[in-house]
Amino acid sequence: MGNVFVLDHPLIQHKLTYIRKKETGTKEFRELVDEVAALMAFEITRDLPLEEITIETPVTTATTKTLSGKKIGLVPILRAGLGMVDGILQLIPAARVGHVGLYRDPETLKPVEYYIKLPSDIEERDLIVIDPMLATGGSANDAIHSLKKRGATSIKLMCLVGAPEGVEVIKKEHPDVDIYLAALDEKLNEKGYIEPGLGDAGDRLYGTK
Ligand code: PRP
Ligand code: URA
Repeated sequence: MGNVFVLDHPLIQHKLTYIRKKETGTKEFRELVDEVAALMAFEITRDLPLEEITIETPVTTATTKTLSGKKIGLVPILRAGLGMVDGILQLIPAARVGHVGLYRDPETLKPVEYYIKLPSDIEERDLIVIDPMLATGGSANDAIHSLKKRGATSIKLMCLVGAPEGVEVIKKEHPDVDIYLAALDEKLNEKGYIEPGLGDAGDRLYGTK
């Protein structure tokens, strides 16, 4: 069964509070989402494998460490996932970025896929699927199925805020996928919004309604 990690670093928790506040405007919201994404990436990459290499410093020869193992691929779910990409790329600039376009039908709450473009070698990469919100879990579930159908074998899911309902869906459908959250919230309301949540992530990032 996949693990669920709530990243409780004080900086993540502090910034998340300001992301949640309704009076936080678009500019500040976007900056904070980027910052929290970078901090989360720092924690998520804690287990990346290292290998020893020998280099020359200006002074002498040294045996030192470098990343080994699979390369990383980021897969934001459009639109809101885009708001987390730049922050992560600051830490992992060599990561390739694929895109999955999904929107949630407001009536049925079911995801509708409208776009997908991925690096050609996704089967050789450790993929991190990125979306600020894991609500019913429908969007992340579909995105992960889509990636697996195309050959992906190593996937982590990174969201700012998750609802218990969404977490259960991913655990059941994708027991091989670990989930990383900045917060596991209380519940979904009758409109499918996370409570207490942060509202509509896409609208708050891009100033739409
Ligand atoms: C939001 C959010 C997730 C999805 C989560 O996207 O960014 O992708 O809802 O809900 P779920 O877990 O119930 O599927 P939305 O459909 O609002 O599209 P947008 O990012 O284009 O605004
Ligand atoms: N999508 C959002 O943007 N926010 C929610 O609370 C649920 C789904």
